[in-house]
Amino acid sequence: MKKILTIAGSPSGTSRSSAVLRLCSSVLEEQSMDVSSLSVKDVPPEDLVYANFESEALKKAQLLIEQADGIVVGTPVYKASYTGVLKALLDLMPQYAFAGKTILPIATGGTITHLLSIEYAMKPLFGVLGATNILRGIFILDSQMEKTAEGGIILEAEINERLKNSLLELSTSLAH
Ligand SMILES: Cc1cc2nc3c(=O)[nH]c(=O)nc-3n(C[C@H](O)[C@H](O)[C@H](O)COP(=O)(O)O)c2cc1C
Repeated sequence: MKKILTIAGSPSGTSRSSAVLRLCSSVLEEQSMDVSSLSVKDVPPEDLVYANFESEALKKAQLLIEQADGIVVGTPVYKASYTGVLKALLDLMPQYAFAGKTILPIATGGTITHLLSIEYAMKPLFGVLGATNILRGIFILDSQMEKTAEGGIILEAEINERLKNSLLELSTSLAH
């Protein structure tokens, strides 16, 4: 069984992008993937800010990344890029932490203006971390999502279809 890790880059308590990742997890589990999750909020802020390499939470994050065959990174767009706290977490991972893994980038944003942040911000970062198989990625506008009372998310039909196709592309690429 292939292992997939979702990494949530939002510091928000009611995060849309994290809800999208939870949706991804259930779809991937239906495709018989073994899915784990990691959030920037799993690591104490002091460990991130003071680069505490002895942090147990950071060691656990590193292990989850090491064990994953595929990684879905979901982040809100902050100031035309991924969040600073996601960068803080990935800064503390080993140099080639993403080597040999298939990566699916997902960004949620308030404006279509920053659609290309996946191309100019996320993909170069993942490349520096050693990823060679980075899938096209998905940008989801806030206006294409509706939060549910239970903390979930409902996507507009078209973007929902594109997300499902991307997840299928991820699991198919892991099958080879
Ligand atoms: C501090 C901050 C900065 C933001 N900057 C941008 C931005 O530059 N471009 C954009 O499209 N949306 C921006 N947004 C909107 C968020 O990307 C958007 O609402 C996203 O879906 C929030 O995801 P989350 O709920 O997972 O945190 C910003 C939101 C915040 C709170």
